[in-house]
Amino acid sequence: MYVCVCNAVTDCQIRQAYCEGACSMRLLRQKLGVAGCCGRCAPCARDLLVECRQERDRAEAIAAAEAPAAATA
Ligand code: FES
Repeated sequence: MYVCVCNAVTDCQIRQAYCEGACSMRLLRQKLGVAGCCGRCAPCARDLLVECRQERDRAEAIAAAEAPAAATA
């Protein structure tokens, strides 16, 4: 789905940019131009960044919980 209509940026592109290090609105704007024109996409883009952070934190927590089990297995 398009998040930033002005720059034709999709949620997938934002997720990919996050994985490549664009973990703030400033970095997202630099990389993709998100919220660089009218700014209407900023709240949605911000929500996506929060979602990406939560997904990463969840994955790290799972990996940390499994790491000791993997070491003893
Ligand atoms: S919709 Fe993103 S800057 Fe306008």
